Amino acid sequence: MNRKDEHLNLALDFHKEEKQSDFDNIDFIHNVFSEINMDSVDLKTNIAGYDLSHPFHINGMTGGSELTKKFNQKLAILARETNTLMGLGSLSIALRDESTQDSFKIARKENPNGIIFANLGADKTLEDAKKACEIIDADGIQIHVNVCQEIVMPEGERQFSGWLDNISKIVDGLGLPVLIKEVGFGMSKSAIKSLKEIGVTTIDVSGKGGTNFAKIENSRRTNYKYNFLENYGNSTVVSLLEAQEYVKNTDIIASGGIRNSMDIVKSLSLGAKSVAMAGRFLRLVNELEMEAAIEEVNNWKYQIKSIMTLLGAKNISELQNTDIILINNVREWAELRNID
Ligand code: FNR
Repeated sequence: MNRKDEHLNLALDFHKEEKQSDFDNIDFIHNVFSEINMDSVDLKTNIAGYDLSHPFHINGMTGGSELTKKFNQKLAILARETNTLMGLGSLSIALRDESTQDSFKIARKENPNGIIFANLGADKTLEDAKKACEIIDADGIQIHVNVCQEIVMPEGERQFSGWLDNISKIVDGLGLPVLIKEVGFGMSKSAIKSLKEIGVTTIDVSGKGGTNFAKIENSRRTNYKYNFLENYGNSTVVSLLEAQEYVKNTDIIASGGIRNSMDIVKSLSLGAKSVAMAGRFLRLVNELEMEAAIEEVNNWKYQIKSIMTLLGAKNISELQNTDIILINNVREWAELRNID
């Protein structure tokens, strides 16, 4: 089976049950007197220079085969109908093999006016990034930094030098917003600092807790089975703690294991400006008819508004003033790393 199809099928398989997560180690202190009305709550946010009507979006996933084209089509229709920013999967294959480009272009065809981001790895050049953006008439690009995934992948990359330099050239020369993202292993304060130093302003920490690419790559092995590096990485919550110093002057995005509207609000309260979901959206379009999927996304918007009303936060920035309690390992992490 083609690698893109394998990733998609394995991601769907591994997501069957809802797991415990570090989001369960954060509690809001219940606010008895909300003192605001729900119709005064504003869900708007802004990332990478784009205004978004709600603080969540579809993260980069797929493309490159007939099966993934069908998924991109469904995701693009869902994005159009719910006014949601969408990232596509890595266009690396589309640069190598023109015949696969339609599986990405379908997203632009279905959603001509939507905000759509291209996607490539950090091993790629500025020229590659320009070509990838042209293929889908992109509004920006997500560059993924996925050393851990490559290490576990049997046919993966083993040369990782020069990534920051590549990113720096893309940021300086592309002329479109550049978003740097992990793929489910999280980001540390020093990684964010390195990115800031080369001019990156939009960073998706994409932490551990959801789609697990170590597990996915291990299961693709046919000769022997391993659970190599399956518990490696920092959770999304821990990565957001690591990002605290930067949330005021950087568009920090939370992703990795977002299960529901409460996880979204918790991420926003820790300073994220938008929250991205990959596996959750994949399952949504896999399991539901389009009408029901649209209704579900609209329910999330309603639920986020409801929770914000409960917490007395009229907008996304006010959410950062809500009182939260960290417990268990999340609290230990904050203490050990001196994070307030
Ligand atoms: C991904 N992800 C991903 N990320 C990326 O930057 N480029 C890519 O090509 C892909 N491919 C991909 C395929 C599939 C099937 C999935 C489910 C995911 C990673 C994704 O954007 C995200 O960082 C992680 O999946 C963690 O988020 P979730 O899935 O836990 O919400």
